[in-house]
Amino acid sequence: SIVVLDYGSQYTRLIARRLREQHVFSVIVSADSSLEAIRAHRPKGVVLSGGPRSVYDPGAPGLPEGLLEAGLPILAICYGMQLLAHAAGGEVAPSTVREYGKAPLTRYGGELFRGVEGEFIAWMSHGDSVVRLPEGFRVVASTQDTEIAAIEDPERGLYGMQFHPEVHHTPKGRTLLENFLARTGIARDWTPEHILEVMTREVRERVGDERVLLAISGGVDSSTLGLLLNRAIGERLTAVFVDHGLLRAGEAEEVERALRGVGVNLTVVDAAERFLGALTGVADPEEKRKIIGREFIEVFNGVVRDKQAEVGHIRFLAQGTLYPDVIESSGGHGAANIKSHHNVGGLPEDLRFELLEPFRTLFKDEVRELATLLGLPPHLAQRHPFPGPGLAIRCLGPVTRERLAVLRRVDDIFVSALREFGLYDETWQALAVLTPLRSVGVMGDARTYTNTVALRAVTSVDGMTADWARLPHDFLATVSSRIVNSVPEVNRVVYDITSKPPGTIEWE
Ligand code: XMP
Repeated sequence: SIVVLDYGSQYTRLIARRLREQHVFSVIVSADSSLEAIRAHRPKGVVLSGGPRSVYDPGAPGLPEGLLEAGLPILAICYGMQLLAHAAGGEVAPSTVREYGKAPLTRYGGELFRGVEGEFIAWMSHGDSVVRLPEGFRVVASTQDTEIAAIEDPERGLYGMQFHPEVHHTPKGRTLLENFLARTGIARDWTPEHILEVMTREVRERVGDERVLLAISGGVDSSTLGLLLNRAIGERLTAVFVDHGLLRAGEAEEVERALRGVGVNLTVVDAAERFLGALTGVADPEEKRKIIGREFIEVFNGVVRDKQAEVGHIRFLAQGTLYPDVIESSGGHGAANIKSHHNVGGLPEDLRFELLEPFRTLFKDEVRELATLLGLPPHLAQRHPFPGPGLAIRCLGPVTRERLAVLRRVDDIFVSALREFGLYDETWQALAVLTPLRSVGVMGDARTYTNTVALRAVTSVDGMTADWARLPHDFLATVSSRIVNSVPEVNRVVYDITSKPPGTIEWE
């Protein structure tokens, strides 16, 4: 592997992903890890991330003891480079000019720049700079304001850069990462095929002759997990899909068809009556969420008891937990992520399971690639996220069958049009909201007085922050007229131009 030491940069995960894109397995570990802990990952090289501190701050995180002498190639980025320079005997000082943003290199050379030609734009973000080189190093790149913008000691395999090669604002940064990987001699074997092989083997070893339960939500993670488990343990997988009646148009059928199509033995429970019944007259968003969560657990427990009676004891509960949820890093993320709508905590004592989380080492993109390899249809594999409580939290005010039907049609028109116009993959999530507002309109010669829907599309990396998508006006015009012309219950369409923060992605 390549071990990425996390000094708290907002780009740490991006570094790991960039390396994975080169088919190299990378893991993120906390900056205070010991050399021994790092070695446990059998690294061929180490990347030091950036970070918000100054090396002279009291308590600023340092280099793991012995790392510099361990003979491992090191790529040190931003704060990482200052740390490397400092630890190797150089000097770091506050810069006279804080450099922030795009900066062209005024010169570059050296090992990691091999193959780079023409102008090199670097993304800079630093207050301190290396002002004196440690012994054995030389300067290999400069900008207008920063003389020492990149350094190397190729003999020892030590490389530092003040800018961020991992961000797309450094367009040629990829070559630098590639060159570093070449220097480490690491195998480029982290391909979807290899991942599939590893996961299949691990699942088989862990599960043995036991049985596994999987709750499928229709999202890409649980669906892909269904395919993987089916392949690994076949019959011994019990997959349950609870249809709460709050799904999008055709969704339940689509998921069912896709999974059955590749041989997953799926039990679909139609619990729409029950969920809609429990939601009757409820308008408060938190109340809706609580009811849905509670009903889900109850239905799920019921199915599991029936299943246990049918197939015998089920030992494992599989979950599609992803790497970003488990990274133990300086930023202390993890628990902040919104998890799937069912959790082990809600299961009664007699339904205790051991957790099986085969995707714990994967990023979402990797799950999508795996999904495609396992035969999930591309439009399911590439699907936008969808919240556990479903359309209930997009149907403002009380949720009724009629209102859900209106919302479903509007959502379908909007999302289908995004696909048709090639905009779907450019947005991170897109949705329609049925508001409780009615307003006056004119259709033909007649007055209308009916519902307002809001469309929302956002760009985002992980859903934690988001920007409203600048969809073309012509596209919005087309969608608006399609909606009003084909859904008589709607006479007004508005587009949500709020980012997150201060808005959230969902309206409830
Ligand atoms: P917000 O609205 O908080 O949403 O900006 C961020 C992302 O999380 C999704 N979301 C949920 N997902 N259960 C889920 O599985 C939930 O209760 C839930 N609430 C929000 C939302 O769709 C967006 O992708």
